[in-house]
Amino acid sequence: MHEAETVGRRDVLSGLAIAAGASALAAPDLGPPAVGRAAFLRTRLCTLLGIEVPVIQAPMAGVVTPELVAGVGEAGGLGILPGTGLAPEELRQKIRATRALGPRPFGVNPLLHPGIRRPADPASLPQAAVDAAQGVLNRFRERLGLAPRSTPPPALDTRIDEAIEVVIEERVAVFSIGLGKPEPALVHRFRERGVKLIAMAATPADAVELEAAGVDAIVAQGSEAGGHRSTWIKRPSGEEAAIGTLALVPQVAGAVRVPVIAAGGIMDGRGLLAALALGAEGVLMGTRFIATRESGAPRFYKQALIDGDSDRTTLTDAFTGLWARVLRNEYTEAYRASGAAVLPALLQQALASDVTTAAASRGDGSLFPLYAGQGVGLVDDAGRSARDLVQDVAAEARRRLLALRDAVA
Ligand SMILES: Cc1cc2nc3c(=O)[nH]c(=O)nc-3n(C[C@H](O)[C@H](O)[C@H](O)COP(=O)(O)O)c2cc1C
Repeated sequence: MHEAETVGRRDVLSGLAIAAGASALAAPDLGPPAVGRAAFLRTRLCTLLGIEVPVIQAPMAGVVTPELVAGVGEAGGLGILPGTGLAPEELRQKIRATRALGPRPFGVNPLLHPGIRRPADPASLPQAAVDAAQGVLNRFRERLGLAPRSTPPPALDTRIDEAIEVVIEERVAVFSIGLGKPEPALVHRFRERGVKLIAMAATPADAVELEAAGVDAIVAQGSEAGGHRSTWIKRPSGEEAAIGTLALVPQVAGAVRVPVIAAGGIMDGRGLLAALALGAEGVLMGTRFIATRESGAPRFYKQALIDGDSDRTTLTDAFTGLWARVLRNEYTEAYRASGAAVLPALLQQALASDVTTAAASRGDGSLFPLYAGQGVGLVDDAGRSARDLVQDVAAEARRRLLALRDAVA
């Protein structure tokens, strides 16, 4: 196929490897590509994780299903199951359900933010902060026909460490960490079991700390990214730890020796190719996967992504207590305008859960957290399968690379 495309492949890739630093693309063995797979994009990351295409699907609670993870794996990428909010036994069931769908490696991800792992006691919250937050939420409740509330949120499930044990016992291939830095004992336990560790950083300094902690690969999360900003200390404003992907990835790639995975605004093969050129050895994509056939996101959420343009995203801490990028809606704007306090990590989410659950059941995206990155303007359909999406991303990266080769030849 595509005879013209294969001509000179070796030269173009060697050139890219040099441009991106010797470590970025392992000396490419450009033997015949696996059928339907982009063997030519094989990087150190692929070898590390046992995958064929350097595309990772981000863990996304409420969105990612075992079928989505399996579909990404079938195409040669790595799918990651979200673990946050799941009781240990639920997580075990999800892991087993995913494994039953195919033999490909996959990952599991909890959010390891200290505020989530060791949450604050709701009884210790200042009543004035609870009253202010409940005051705004009661306006939303009134609109949704819910009873007003004035009490603090319920205590959070603190069994994250038990969930981590489940991941160890089940011998999942990859443990992926968002919003946290693993302690040496934890790294050691995963190492013993041969589980690979991936952790996400939003600044070069945090990336260096993660490497020193012993992780095997680092996700450099640019500020374009949908969902939570990956820091383990909450910054005073959303403007901090908010470096764009284009500026962040080469800095992280220059600061650490382990493979770097670019995240934030990567939606297609152009993004993958750009990330490789910046020194990354793979990409992690979230927003684009929300709008796939196997995604568990409600229909109104997928439609909001198709309709939404990139100018509509904002950073807010009003949904969960931690900074996250979402589509601006009535909830984000009314909460901000109220000036009301936001409770600490995930206690805010627990306080608002009756509102967001009711909004979801009514298909009302105006009071629901529509997590989305700045690439949202590039989402134009929700019907593609995860497998096709990964294959399309790899094929487009290849096409674009060869077109660039022709343009400079
Ligand atoms: C709906 C949604 C949920 C997310 N949930 C998680 C999560 O549970 N754990 C995590 O490490 N990252 C989570 N993220 C962030 C992703 O890991 C990743 O940084 C981001 O999606 C990349 O940017 P993109 O959305 O522009 O592709 C989430 C992102 C989205 C959009």
